[in-house]
Amino acid sequence: MAKQVRKLNVAMIGYGFMGRAHSNAFIQVGHFFDLPHDLKLKVMCGRKRSAVEAMASQWGWEEAQTDWQSVVTRKDIDVVDICAPNHLHAQIAIAAAEAGKIVLCEKPLAMNVVEAQAMANAAHSVPNLVWFNYRRVPAIALAKELIEQGKVGKPYHYRATYLQSWGANPQSPDAWRFRKVEAGSGAMGDLLSHSLDLALMLNGPISELTSLIHTFTPNREVDDAVIALTRFANGSIGTFEATRFAIGCQNRNYFEIHGEKGSIRFNLEDLNRLEVFDRNDATEIQGGHQVLVTGPGHPYTSHFWPPGHIIGYEHTFIATLADFLNCFAKNEAFHPNFDDAVDVQKLLEAVETSAQKGTWTKVLGS
Ligand SMILES: NC(=O)c1ccc[n+]([C@@H]2O[C@H](COP(=O)([O-])OP(=O)(O)OC[C@H]3O[C@@H](n4cnc5c(N)ncnc54)[C@H](O)[C@@H]3O)[C@@H](O)[C@H]2O)c1
Repeated sequence: MAKQVRKLNVAMIGYGFMGRAHSNAFIQVGHFFDLPHDLKLKVMCGRKRSAVEAMASQWGWEEAQTDWQSVVTRKDIDVVDICAPNHLHAQIAIAAAEAGKIVLCEKPLAMNVVEAQAMANAAHSVPNLVWFNYRRVPAIALAKELIEQGKVGKPYHYRATYLQSWGANPQSPDAWRFRKVEAGSGAMGDLLSHSLDLALMLNGPISELTSLIHTFTPNREVDDAVIALTRFANGSIGTFEATRFAIGCQNRNYFEIHGEKGSIRFNLEDLNRLEVFDRNDATEIQGGHQVLVTGPGHPYTSHFWPPGHIIGYEHTFIATLADFLNCFAKNEAFHPNFDDAVDVQKLLEAVETSAQKGTWTKVLGS
């Protein structure tokens, strides 16, 4: 007998890089996960009709529209997914939440803390998600499990780098990412936001920080690189570096954590692996060992391929969406939600304040 599923009509605003990643997740999620909801790709929305129509047709969306305001309040829309540049997140999310829609939003949530908080307030009455997709990389989810099991012990150091190199290319087509009014910031909101979200998940709140922000390119409106030193509430100390000028690195989202009992190390450019060092191993065999996190028994992996058959970037969006839909069906809290992203936004703001003042800055609400 066919299972009973409730159909959810999705409207997506913006259809670029994330538009493709999310479209794929909407299509695939029900194939890999047994879910009580069926997602219908109803409306894809952008500015230029011919271009949206071409994308909508390529990815199987039923309609293409050019006016997001009229789309997000439509009665036949259940879910609004925001894949537009950062300056549009708040207005779209608040309009969608006020219309009672389920709201999914790309990161960074907002342009600043005030805007982020207004979005979170508006979204408190509706299910909401922020696409900090790296939380669902199986190796990162395993890192969290190991930390919670006490394998790292009392943490001493948290070290994160998010290294890209495309900012050094003056011909880069990613124009909005360099305009302050549309992006808000550069490497900070784009890359550091991911590293901070992971740090909050893996190592808890940050209480204070000091930072340096740098723009290499003359007349560029946003930061090319940012470095921060942090103190975590659990007593450990951290360093963060995010840059679009790390020549030789494409998308090296990396972290390591060192504690009294061991350490863990991850690099997105080798996303199926986690390096684990256990200080309890016999001295003569001590060394970081490479765990191939493709199962059996690893988070999410049973939903994808047999052990040893690696997964990719797109699976992180699929797994995020699956967890969200399961939480929604069970009326359970999902993370990361808008409130979690407000915490990231507070850290980003503290990074900016610290760089401007050249001092240590306490993090709001910590
Ligand atoms: N989670 C991640 O890892 C990740 C990765 C990349 C980007 N992002 C975030 O996703 C968002 C989009 O980034 P992207 O890389 O997809 O950008 P992109 O430039 O590839 O796409 C942006 C899209 O927004 C559309 N758009 C712009 N103004 C619009 C308007 N007024 N109405 C409707 N559509 C409009 C553009 O036409 C385009 O389709 C950003 O917030 C970015 O920070 C997240």
